[in-house]
Amino acid sequence: MKMVWGGIQMTWKPNKAPGMPIYKQIAHYIESRIVNGEFPPGSFLPSERHLAEELKVNRSTVIAAYDELTSTGLINKVKGTGTIVSTDIWGANQQRVPNWEQYIKGGFFQPNNPLNRQIHRVTQSQADIINFAIGELSHDLLPIHLIQDVHSSMDISRYLGYEHMQGNIKLRETISSHLLSYRSIESTPEAILITSGAQQAIHLIIQCLLKPGDAIAIEDPSYAYSLPIFQSAGLRTFLLPVEHDGIDPERIVALHRKHRLKMMFLNPIFHNPTGTILSMEKRKRILEISTKFGIPIVEDDPYSITGYNHERIHTLKSLDQYGTVLYVSSLTKLIASGLRIGWIVGPHSVINRLADVKQQIDFGHPNYPQWIAAQLLSSPDFAKHIKHLREGLKKKRDIIVETLKSELGNRVSFTIPEGGIHLWCSIAEDVNETILLKEAVRKKVVFAPGSTLGSSNGTVRFTYGRCDTNLIREGVKRFAEALNIATAKA
Ligand SMILES: Cc1ncc(COP(=O)(O)O)c(C=O)c1O
Repeated sequence: MKMVWGGIQMTWKPNKAPGMPIYKQIAHYIESRIVNGEFPPGSFLPSERHLAEELKVNRSTVIAAYDELTSTGLINKVKGTGTIVSTDIWGANQQRVPNWEQYIKGGFFQPNNPLNRQIHRVTQSQADIINFAIGELSHDLLPIHLIQDVHSSMDISRYLGYEHMQGNIKLRETISSHLLSYRSIESTPEAILITSGAQQAIHLIIQCLLKPGDAIAIEDPSYAYSLPIFQSAGLRTFLLPVEHDGIDPERIVALHRKHRLKMMFLNPIFHNPTGTILSMEKRKRILEISTKFGIPIVEDDPYSITGYNHERIHTLKSLDQYGTVLYVSSLTKLIASGLRIGWIVGPHSVINRLADVKQQIDFGHPNYPQWIAAQLLSSPDFAKHIKHLREGLKKKRDIIVETLKSELGNRVSFTIPEGGIHLWCSIAEDVNETILLKEAVRKKVVFAPGSTLGSSNGTVRFTYGRCDTNLIREGVKRFAEALNIATAKA
């Protein structure tokens, strides 16, 4: 492009290849010319329409570039006159619009992985997409009638105020007896803190019990890996590879000797994403290591009661004799994600510390869903619901396994999960997961790419528990078509 501008000739055009967005390139370019004094304070910039024509971009792209420069105070849009380089580019004038871009980049909380953000955008904007990506239950597994019944008997006027810092006492009592009867975990209501899902429980633990520079261990791959909250807190994160029967406990010892681990975050039963169960032998050894070296365990356990053979599986917490395990769970994978009910069980001193911080953050958990949760967990129909849930998940598991075999044969390999909601799949061919995801979205199906959970290209998590039973076959077929296109492009 050759453009004469304020007597200065320039040849420049934005680079349309993927990378920096075009509006940012334009904003940077104009900014550098302003700073170099080539576009002096008070001079006019070309109109949006004119610049868009010259650069062969949409007018909205130029508007976005000008908005960016306006937000930094470098230019001003004067209604009816045009866009003018600010007479106060060095900040003498007090009336400057904050540079939001710098604030956005400067905050200590890390943004989500770009692929995760893309998946959230897609699933939130396309209601008809077949969703194998998000870790929650499908509509056909939610106890909707039970929730409606409970709801209709509620005296709402009693649940509109602030609650106890640790959460509603009735809910904590109910969770305490649920833990004993379904999970063999002994607790008291005082040892429980209600949180906004397991997610907030993990976040509170990080914020209250760890400090920047502390070393922690997480599984690889893992749900924990997908959470930037560890990096945001400045923690040093070390990985424990997950084998067919869970992590190798001796690696914890080796990591501790080298890095002085402050905590380990484990999801031992129906692990997300691999579906594996940490063997009993390994569970016992990890507890031994924990007490020998004084390393606390955060046991993240959303799935242990979903086992399809209806047998009880002993969590680390149920085997913990010395109070070394902070136990985290939630109702997301048992009742509904939208209730946002999770909890932590731990020593009183720890629970008090976390409750104090939760109180500072949000003044305690909303009362209304806590009451609903207490009613659901203590309902005589809860056991029936859990049975229905396990059978429903098993049916979905069988369909996805059968369809993956018939559609993709030995192009994929996986271990068949015996509980939980995820299937972890390795692809035999070379494939770029970003291209695969793009093609899958085109075909209206979405999954979790392995890298978002800490694994390499060529792995995929299918969350079959999120997909309506009658859409699973179609979803896998669409995935197979996307894979054909993506491998052809590799
Ligand atoms: C292992 C694990 N932990 C924690 C969570 C967080 O769930 P929520 O905050 O809804 O309880 C998830 C969600 O997928 C999970 O899979």
